[in-house]
Amino acid sequence: MSGTRLFFIACLLISLVVVVAAFGGTLTTRTMPTEAAAGMRIWKANQCEGCHTLYGQGGAFAPDLTHIFQQRGDTYLTEFLVNPSAFHPGQRAMPRFDLTVSETDNLITFLEWIGGQPEAETWPPRPIVVSGSVSLGVPETVTNADSAASDDPVVRGAALFQSPPAICGTCHALVPDVVVVGPSLAGIASRAGTRVDGQSAEAYIRNSIIHPGDYIVDGFLDVMQKNFGEVLTAEEINDLIAFLMTLE
Ligand code: HEC
Ligand code: HEC
Repeated sequence: MSGTRLFFIACLLISLVVVVAAFGGTLTTRTMPTEAAAGMRIWKANQCEGCHTLYGQGGAFAPDLTHIFQQRGDTYLTEFLVNPSAFHPGQRAMPRFDLTVSETDNLITFLEWIGGQPEAETWPPRPIVVSGSVSLGVPETVTNADSAASDDPVVRGAALFQSPPAICGTCHALVPDVVVVGPSLAGIASRAGTRVDGQSAEAYIRNSIIHPGDYIVDGFLDVMQKNFGEVLTAEEINDLIAFLMTLE
């Protein structure tokens, strides 16, 4: 067998086992499991990257999805992809794609793989100012399913902050000065009492949730949903307030 031919066969073998995932050179060549690779093809074919970024690469119209699997989990993502507009009413809606069950599974496997790469630990280098990204200071407890059933209103409120139907965290960061759609709520407990004459911090926060249009924070638009008074129970609203009152 000639050297050229051996070289050719070696190259062929290598290309069979290695899929190159080149996201602007951020990720080097490495083996991607078949399902994830299939998911990447669906990602490309449906132009997900026209709106979304992975490791910052792609269109910045919609949230960076590098950590979305670790953030949201399998069940949520499956339901979201089947009916995106059901999730964040009143926000920019994501189109619904006609994906088969296995295509959806592969896409999610791809997103899981993306977020599981070593680079994910240091990504993003700075908070990304697009709704839905991580590094918005959301407390660890919110990922704990038990927290919704906790005896502590603050813990329940923190969980609610990040879960449907409230998902306050898609618009509000909890680290200072990071603006997503709404203002960062870091330090809100200290600020709230100074917003409206005669309104205590607690009363202001309650009113901001139930009647967001009453007071519009300088430099922001009146885009917070007006139906939280209906979609959240009185107890849920109290829990959210208890949580926000800890953010001094
Ligand atoms: C036309 C722009 C657009 C395209 C194309 C698009 N998305 Fe989105 N996507 C959005 C917007 C806007 C949001 C944020 C609003 C929302 O969550 O509904 C979003 C949110 C998401 C979320 C986060 C949901 C959450 O609640 O955290 C996921 C996951 C997602 N998209 C996956 C995909 C996948 C997979 C594709 C390709 C099949 C895709 N998107 C294509 C606009 C787009
Ligand atoms: C669609 C995006 C969006 C969602 C979701 C959202 N908000 Fe807001 N929020 C805003 C915007 C924009 C403002 C600033 C304009 C205004 O004052 O209404 C705001 C203002 C606030 C303020 C006043 C902040 C200040 O500095 O005075 C509070 C408190 C607040 N939101 C709490 C919440 C809570 C709690 C939730 C979840 C139940 C929530 N928001 C969900 C967009 C959102």
